[in-house]
Amino acid sequence: MNVLQVRDLTKRHGRKHNLVRAVDGVDLDVPAGQMLAVTGPSGCGKSTLLNLMAGLERPTGGQVWLAGERIDTAGERALARLRRRSVGFVFQSFHLVEELTAAENVELPVLLAGGSPRAAKRRAGQLLDQVGLADRARQLPWKLSGGERQRVAVARALANEPLVVLADEPTGNLDTAATNEVLRLFADLRAMGQTVVMVTHDARVAATADRLVSMRDGVFVEDTWLGGGSGWLDGLFAMGD
Ligand SMILES: Nc1ncnc2c1ncn2[C@@H]1O[C@H](COP(=O)(O)OP(=O)(O)OP(=O)(O)O)[C@@H](O)[C@H]1O
Ligand SMILES: [Mg+2]
Repeated sequence: MNVLQVRDLTKRHGRKHNLVRAVDGVDLDVPAGQMLAVTGPSGCGKSTLLNLMAGLERPTGGQVWLAGERIDTAGERALARLRRRSVGFVFQSFHLVEELTAAENVELPVLLAGGSPRAAKRRAGQLLDQVGLADRARQLPWKLSGGERQRVAVARALANEPLVVLADEPTGNLDTAATNEVLRLFADLRAMGQTVVMVTHDARVAATADRLVSMRDGVFVEDTWLGGGSGWLDGLFAMGD
């Protein structure tokens, strides 16, 4: 089953001599359990593509299905529900709520989706444990390192058991050590069978994926099967902890 299906997707900005074809006729199928990395130079349309697939932006043309449900033409309410329940989004710059603790940040999507405070607490505890931050649960974001913050953001993205995690440069603001923490976490997600689409400039991050799509000027120029990740990660884990 394809979790995501994209057909002839386009997004244009401006008109005439100011026309930008941010995404220019893209087709994509993402089967359940696949970890897909999208790379390409700055401005080639990666974030736009991700936002279109998350229902954060409306396309100019083409179609997007999420688990068989058409999202490009969905109404605002249906879209809000889909974003809340079916998509977990990870931003480059964390986007944590600074006034809330790590645990409260993870609880928030559960509460917004109508979960009880008890269910939210339980889920947040579980997820923070899973991302190795059980002991940091009561900290405010500014007291956490970059890697820790991004792990909280990933935990938050997973809160409602989304069909797909979409991550835009999840290691973009992180140093090497913090990048390794996040990579390890994404490797766990892959092992769990979580469907993930991530955008990255970083070849090391891309190498952790099952499949690598290269974009240029709004179109796909390469689609490569990486065969379940590269060996260097095993080395990293062997050295770790
Ligand atoms: N709201 C907008 N109005 C006009 N042009 C836009 C808008 N949003 C994006 N663009 C343009 O669309 C193109 C694709 O932008 P996008 O942000 O998707 O690129 P990207 O591949 O994510 O780049 P980066 O690697 O720098 O994040 C760029 O030329 C950008 O300037
Ligand atoms: Mg971008």
